[in-house]
Amino acid sequence: MTARSQSPAARPPGFVYRETKRGLLRRDGPSVLYCEDVDMLDLAEQHGTPLYVYSAAMIRERYDAFDAAFREVPHTICYSVKANSNLTILRMLARKGCGFDVVSGGELERVLAADRKAAKKVVFSGVGKTREELTAALKAGIMLFNVESESELWALAECAGRLRKTAPVALRVNPDVAAETHPYISTGLRKHKFGVPIRDARALYAKASGARYLKVRGVSVHIGSQITDVAPFGEAMARVADLVRELRGDGHRIDYIDAGGGLGIAYEKASAFSADVEAYARSLSAPLRGLDVRLLLEPGRSIIGPAGVLVTSVLYRKQNDGKRFLVVDAAMNDLIRPALYGAYHEIIPVKQSPVQQSAGATAKSEVTDIVGPVCETGDFFARDRELPVVGEGDLLAILDAGAYGMVLASNYNTRPRAAEVLVSGGTAKVIRRREKVSDLLRAES
Ligand code: LLP
Repeated sequence: MTARSQSPAARPPGFVYRETKRGLLRRDGPSVLYCEDVDMLDLAEQHGTPLYVYSAAMIRERYDAFDAAFREVPHTICYSVKANSNLTILRMLARKGCGFDVVSGGELERVLAADRKAAKKVVFSGVGKTREELTAALKAGIMLFNVESESELWALAECAGRLRKTAPVALRVNPDVAAETHPYISTGLRKHKFGVPIRDARALYAKASGARYLKVRGVSVHIGSQITDVAPFGEAMARVADLVRELRGDGHRIDYIDAGGGLGIAYEKASAFSADVEAYARSLSAPLRGLDVRLLLEPGRSIIGPAGVLVTSVLYRKQNDGKRFLVVDAAMNDLIRPALYGAYHEIIPVKQSPVQQSAGATAKSEVTDIVGPVCETGDFFARDRELPVVGEGDLLAILDAGAYGMVLASNYNTRPRAAEVLVSGGTAKVIRRREKVSDLLRAES
């Protein structure tokens, strides 16, 4: 594997280096990574590490850019809760008028806890909704059930009948469109467990419309996650648009097309989000011209991914037969993406020394693995990475960790989960306290 170098200068706003007064002479002093107007060294000192830090301004900016990109079409953004489900973040988005995509009864409860009134903008996706979950969503009065099989359709009809409430239904169709991404998060091919084959859809819609407590309202699709080429989104939409015309011809009422989520972010290189999301919007909207539907969008990662970092502290430097390791205090239980998908996350020091600033990161850099304390070889954040030389006790920021970071955290090796802090301007608020071992032991006998 070849070493890859860092380009911290190319990072988006939200997390930027600033000169500090900590040095002897201000001009030659070190520069420190800030989240908005908050010094991240101070944050780590106050709250400990590993620590998730989010920028509220960045979340809002990204939501606004997403919303603006779709200004030409009637649309509702239903933020995908699975990407980051912290209550404070959900509440922040709800205040902006955002809806939500949930995939479990638990996520629905979170959304309702964040904002009671958000139910009418909730879509419920997932291949294995239980009757309890369907019933809870019916009682809450959600906007749309994205049904993924005929069996689920009948389960929903049964639950709705019991409550004498009508369930608004879309079928999630599988458009058989290939999109380049990691095989674990690609969903739009025939071989995947998701949705119903698009060619079976008409027959199923006919069955659904015959059920007393089901009301056909839309069609939904989701082809995968971390997709950076926008063409497959357009292809899937074109197939869905054809289906909508057929369904209307069959006499169904189709008010919604749910396009799912999946727009990728630039983990390895900087990229202008507004341009990316505009291209995505053009690709999705073109096939819908003249259709007169409301477009539902389920972005997760593209809203929250770059708005969060995981701060970790270097415990030990070690060399085994010339191979260098930085052992840090975060591990795969805190951020599993590198271990699970071989995902790349940029890693930068929280404090840059003057030599790194003046002569560039290569002046005093080294090639090293960055690994956690968990007893698995897969517990790494980066392999053979070129990084400015840092010492024991120094802090590193693992970037683009806002999505699928904390939500996938576990207690493996009985490691309590990290705290989460939300920064807004010059203030930082703990939005989830650090777990204690006693929290973990409490549920056991
Ligand atoms: N809608 C549905 C039906 C989904 O299954 C997903 C993601 C989304 C929306 C949101 O997709 P996004 O906009 O965030 O790409 N843990 C993996 C990602 C799993 C995505 C699962 N479904 C990762 O860390 O890359």
